[in-house]
Amino acid sequence: MARKQTTTLTRRQTLRTAAAVIAAPTLIPTRLLGADAPSGKIHIGMIGVGWMGGENLNAFLEVKECRVVAIADVDQNHLASAVKSVNAKYGDEGCKAYKDFRELIGQNDLQAVCISTPDHWHSIPAIAAAKAKKDIYCEKPLSKTLAEGIAMVQAAQQNHRIWQTGSWQRSGNDFRRAAELVLNGYVGKVRRVEVGLPSGHADFERTGNNRPNSDPPKEVDYDFWVGPSEMVPFNPCRFHKNWRWNYNFGGGQLMDWIGHHCDIAHWGLASTSYGVGPDDEIGPMEVSATAEFPPRDALWNTATKYRVECKYPKGIELTIAGGYDEIRSGAKWIGEEGWVWVDRSGFETSKPEWKKEIEQREKGKDLKVLLKDTHGAHQREFIECVKSRKKTLTPAEVAHRSTTPGHLGYIASVVGRTLKWDVAKQQIVGDPEAWKLLSRPIRAPWHV
Ligand SMILES: NC(=O)c1ccc[n+]([C@@H]2O[C@H](COP(=O)([O-])OP(=O)(O)OC[C@H]3O[C@@H](n4cnc5c(N)ncnc54)[C@H](O)[C@@H]3O)[C@@H](O)[C@H]2O)c1
Repeated sequence: MARKQTTTLTRRQTLRTAAAVIAAPTLIPTRLLGADAPSGKIHIGMIGVGWMGGENLNAFLEVKECRVVAIADVDQNHLASAVKSVNAKYGDEGCKAYKDFRELIGQNDLQAVCISTPDHWHSIPAIAAAKAKKDIYCEKPLSKTLAEGIAMVQAAQQNHRIWQTGSWQRSGNDFRRAAELVLNGYVGKVRRVEVGLPSGHADFERTGNNRPNSDPPKEVDYDFWVGPSEMVPFNPCRFHKNWRWNYNFGGGQLMDWIGHHCDIAHWGLASTSYGVGPDDEIGPMEVSATAEFPPRDALWNTATKYRVECKYPKGIELTIAGGYDEIRSGAKWIGEEGWVWVDRSGFETSKPEWKKEIEQREKGKDLKVLLKDTHGAHQREFIECVKSRKKTLTPAEVAHRSTTPGHLGYIASVVGRTLKWDVAKQQIVGDPEAWKLLSRPIRAPWHV
C-alpha cells in the first residue's frame, strides 16, 4: 500500500515558486499555462480510483507541489466519492469528473496522469497519455502482457515522458538497504536469488468464487470496464479487486506481486561487478515453470501454486515461487560470502552487523553504490521528477524488466516447456506457440 506522505518545500523551492509567481504574466489563465502555471503546481489526473487508485489519490493530495484536477472512472460511485474528497481537500469545486479517460487526457491544463485501473486496462490509457505528452504514474504490474509492456516502454521513451511505476517498495528503507548491501558486495558474487510470492487467491471483496452471473451495477459502464478484454457476463466474483484472480483481467498472485518482490530482486542485481547489469536491461536467458491451475472456466482461474526457475547471466539462478514453504516471502540474494533477505516485515542478513553498518555508511554517503532515498514518498518522487525531468526510481523500462520473468513464467507453465529468451531482442527463441502468448487478442474498438 502507499504510505502517508509529508511534504515540506525547501527554501530554494519556495524561492523558485515565489519567483515564478512574480514573473508570470497575470492575464494568462493558470489552466492554460500547465507546468509553468504561476502556482508552479503539477496538474495531475487520476484514472481509476478503486482500492489502489484511492491510496494514490490520498498520497497525491498530500503532495503540495501538485494538484489533482481531474478524475476518470467507469464506476460512477467511485468517481463521485473521489471527486468529493478532492474538492473537500482543496475547498473548492475545481476537480473535473469523467467516465472516459480519453477526455481526461485531453484536458488542456494536465501535465500528468496516475493510472490505477485493473491490469487489463494499463497499456491503452498509458500509451494514449504518453502520446498526449503527459507524464505517467502507472500501477504495477506494468502490463497485462509482455508485448504491451514493450509498447508502453516505447511510448514513454519516444515521447520523452517521466514515468513512475507503483512499485513503491523501492521507496522503503529496508528494501533500499537490502539492495545496497548486495550492490556493494557484502554477499560477494551472487549465485542464487529467491523471490517468494503469495499462493492461492485472496477474497478482497468477500464475494467468494462461486456466484451466478447477474446484471452489472447500474452505476458501472460494464462494457467500458471490460474494455480490451474478451466480453464475458458480469459476475461480482471477477469484478472490483477480485478481477485479479481471472486471466481475462489479471494474472493471479504471480503477476500481482511480480512488480514488488521481483522488482526488488532485480534492483539488487543491478550492478556490473556483482550483478548482471542495469535493471532496465536485465532478464533471464532461460525460463521453466510449473503451476497448478483451477479449471479454465472457473471464475477464479489463476494459478494457485507456481514455481518459476530462471537462468540469468553470470550463472545466477533466480526462483520465483508461490506456495513453496522453502522459498520465503520476499527477496533473498545468496552469494559466495553470505545472504540478505527482505520483505515488508523487515530484513535479515547472514552477518547481523551488516544492518547497522549499511545504515551508517548510507548516512555518511560512504557507499560505492548509494541508492536514492525518497523518504517513503514514492508518489512525491514522481512529482519531483516531473519538475526536474530526472528519472524516477521505477521508470517504465525498469518495471517492464521486473515484470518480464512473471510473463515468461506464466507462458512456460502453460506450454510446459523451457523457454529460451533473447534478453536484448526481447524475443522467445524457436517456440512459435509460446511466442503467440506474449500478446492477447484486444477487443475492438480498442487497440494497443
Ligand atoms: N502498488 C500496490 O501496492 C498495489 C496495491 C493494490 C493494487 N495495485 C494495482 O492497482 C491497480 C488497480 O487495482 P485495484 O485493486 O485498486 O483495483 P480496483 O478494482 O479496486 O479498482 C480499479 C478501479 O478502476 C476503475 N476502472 C476500470 N476500468 C476503467 C477505465 N477504463 N477507466 C477508468 N477507470 C476504470 C474501476 O471502476 C475501479 O474503480 C492494479 O493494476 C493493481 O495491480 C497496486
